[in-house]
Amino acid sequence: MSLAPFRFADLRQESDGKDALLAGLLADRASIPPKYFYDDLGSRLFAAICCLPEYALTRSEACIFAEYGSDIARAAGPGRLLVDLGAGDCGKAAGLFPLLDPAGYVALDISADFLRDALERLKRRFPALPMTGVAIDFTRSLDLPESLLAPAAAPRLWFYPGSSISNFTPDEARAFLARIARACTDAPGGALLIGVDLVKDKATLDAAYDDALGVTAAFNLNVLNVVNRLLPADFAVADWRHVAFFDAAASRIEMRLEARREVTVRLDAQARRFAAGTHILTEYSYKWTAVGFAALLNEAGFARLQQWQDADGGFALFLAEAA
Ligand code: AVI
Repeated sequence: MSLAPFRFADLRQESDGKDALLAGLLADRASIPPKYFYDDLGSRLFAAICCLPEYALTRSEACIFAEYGSDIARAAGPGRLLVDLGAGDCGKAAGLFPLLDPAGYVALDISADFLRDALERLKRRFPALPMTGVAIDFTRSLDLPESLLAPAAAPRLWFYPGSSISNFTPDEARAFLARIARACTDAPGGALLIGVDLVKDKATLDAAYDDALGVTAAFNLNVLNVVNRLLPADFAVADWRHVAFFDAAASRIEMRLEARREVTVRLDAQARRFAAGTHILTEYSYKWTAVGFAALLNEAGFARLQQWQDADGGFALFLAEAA
């Protein structure tokens, strides 16, 4: 059977963040933005994290869809254009197709090859559904050519699952959500379906980001391979160790790489010495209360919020309309 091909656009820019990446690595408190985790291997490691016994986030969200999927679909309404922010393997969105009965699917992700492969597989399962893949760093820009948002007449449902919003600071999250709220008003009936991980006890959260198998450690360390290719740089992965812990006062996981010994690393045309024990910050993962997150959505310009939580109250899904 020959399939109608899906459309694919690569809107990444050569300069996407490379200067900021270098500046972050040269800063007094060195950092690497978490978006660099997701090369092909990083995306696969993240998929493995989602299966770990310690990392309940993905399962909790899936439980909400299993339990309340029909309510959520009724509240969202059928025939929407589902715009998936950070689609990854497209698995979450695909699981919703039978419930949501979308008019089309637009998958956005920074990892072009991973996304293209995922859409090829998805097209075989849903040959009649119009699909578009867009490789883009949507944390920098949500400006999508209208021609990619097809079918144009369908009201849009922006889908941001998996608590990816956690990886923004509260100020960044507010600004990013405000951009989605504005995008929601580009066409009538726009809404956002977003998942957020909620605060829970420290031991549970520490284990979720420092699992016994070391998958999260591999995911964290792999970012050095990505930086080596991008800048280029010459980090030796074996010189670094994974560190992750929940900081209750800041309500966030802090994930770092710690130098095991003194190392000097070439960073593009420059070099930096890291003393033994110094850190590179690689990720924050904020844990919200449901009340706090609802307030954030309101501040960002959303109204008419509906909310569903899993049985343990560990995760919340919000459906929100632009005010
Ligand atoms: C993608 N994001 C929501 C994950 C999180 O839980 O913050 C990334 C992650 N980092 C380590 N484990 C998972």
